[in-house]
Amino acid sequence: MRLAPLLRWTAILLLSGALASWVYAVHRLAGRPPGGPSAASRPAARPEAIAPGPFAFRSNEECEPCHREIYEEWVDDQHALAWFNEPLLPQDPLRVECNNCHAPRPVLETGIEALPVIRGERFEEGVGCIECHRNGGHAEGPLPSAEAPCNPRRNPAFTGSAICASCHAPHGAIDEWRGSAWAAKGYTCQACHMPLVDAPSVTSGPVRRRRSHRMRSQRDPEVLREAVRLEARLVEPREVEVSLTNAGAGHSVPGEISNRELFVRTVVTDAAGREVARHRESFQAVRREQRASVPSTQLRSGETRTFRYALGAERGKVTVSVGYKLLAHIPDERSVLVWREEIAVRPDRETQPALDAR
Ligand code: HEC
Ligand code: HEC
Ligand code: HEC
Ligand code: HEC
Ligand code: HEC
Repeated sequence: MRLAPLLRWTAILLLSGALASWVYAVHRLAGRPPGGPSAASRPAARPEAIAPGPFAFRSNEECEPCHREIYEEWVDDQHALAWFNEPLLPQDPLRVECNNCHAPRPVLETGIEALPVIRGERFEEGVGCIECHRNGGHAEGPLPSAEAPCNPRRNPAFTGSAICASCHAPHGAIDEWRGSAWAAKGYTCQACHMPLVDAPSVTSGPVRRRRSHRMRSQRDPEVLREAVRLEARLVEPREVEVSLTNAGAGHSVPGEISNRELFVRTVVTDAAGREVARHRESFQAVRREQRASVPSTQLRSGETRTFRYALGAERGKVTVSVGYKLLAHIPDERSVLVWREEIAVRPDRETQPALDAR
């Protein structure tokens, strides 16, 4: 098994050669001579020893010494796991139909809103710093341009939703967001998914208010509670009315990954605690192949869907719960409980207020 490291080094050498000539070409095109030694001939130095110059980094790990806090946010984030994330497993370099987004080359290389190109190397880094920030010889971002080894340059696109579009548009989030009231109010993807934190952007640098790279997502029950609002009440004649609203997501809920499921379960029990009725409504995206024929049951941003069921008991209670599953096929018992409400049922036919159990 000596062959693998040998191949790896050969690949690295070939790539560094390619990078050096590419850096040179970029500078020729820009009408400037390449500044200083080429990326490949520069010794592998400690970060403070790297001179400012054209972007010469080849792995996201190289950003860690200078951007420690951001790196730590990112390694815990799904973007860092995009290639080996269970049960995703596009873990096959040949799965070209997945790796454009799960192990892409920098998005700015192909351009905003264009499908990225497959990286062909370091698949295990998923979607990282280089993939979102690199634009030719620069690390671009929301800050003013500065002198640093990563050649920071301001690009206003970073504070808008378009920077997320290359990979997220094909799953629908961008178009849905554009048509939502949230977009009209100025909420970008970052506003909801990259929470503000007070932390340095550069290791040992000043603490500033910036956006975290640990995306807030449906993996956090708190975020699910923000996403949907449940209302349940008794109505005449002897019915329970249940409604669910997408009150907090700038796109459809659940997302367009067809293995997610959100559901509302309504159970009526009589005075003895025996179950007399049970209803279950499912909210789920439809598999791409079936979209033409099967309607999606996702809740659009701002949409309310209302259901009515007969009570079937004179006395007892109605329990309404909202559950969420990252994988639709797992049993409901293992779902995340998002909301739960109980309403007492009495024979006097009087509409009872909900006992809000939040
Ligand atoms: C999924 C895309 C994505 C990935 C991956 C990513 N970033 Fe960012 N980064 C952004 C966006 C978008 C912003 C701007 C957020 C804003 O201010 O609205 C940003 C902001 C920044 C900033 C400016 C922080 C400030 O002070 O405002 C730095 C520095 C940065 N990123 C470095 C990194 C590093 C280092 C990594 C890897 C450890 C990384 N980014 C990974 C998208 C990304
Ligand atoms: C156009 C870009 C793109 C392509 C191509 C793509 N994906 Fe994705 N994938 C995404 C994005 C963006 C998300 C996150 C969206 C979401 O969660 O709604 C995602 C999420 C997923 C998830 C959910 C992961 C989780 O945490 O549960 C799975 C599974 C997945 N993709 C599998 C695949 C597979 C397998 C392929 C190839 C057959 C593929 N994807 C091709 C962009 C892409
Ligand atoms: C030797 C230290 C060092 C290394 C290594 C380094 N950076 Fe930087 N980076 C900086 C400094 C310093 C700034 C300027 C921060 C500021 O303006 O406050 C910066 C700024 C940035 C910005 C903000 C750009 C802007 O104008 O908004 C991004 C994005 C960024 N770096 C990404 C990266 C990425 C990606 C890597 C790894 C491939 C990396 N950096 C490696 C020191 C470094
Ligand atoms: C280079 C492609 C790419 C870009 C650019 C990108 N994403 Fe993603 N994003 C993905 C992929 C792939 C996944 C699925 C990761 C997984 O779970 O396997 C994902 C997942 C997510 C998730 C779900 C996280 C979770 O916990 O399940 C959120 C939220 C998200 N992205 C937000 C953003 C935002 C906001 C931006 C823009 C600032 C952005 N993404 C830019 C590719 C990208
Ligand atoms: C008003 C806040 C808000 C805005 C704006 C917003 N989102 Fe979300 N997003 C949410 C909430 C809440 C969830 C969790 C509920 C869910 O899974 O749909 C979520 C979930 C997601 C997921 C995970 C879906 C899944 O099933 O894996 C992705 C990916 C995502 N958002 C991407 C985006 C992108 C890209 C944008 C910008 C076009 C965006 N979001 C704009 C609130 C928002």
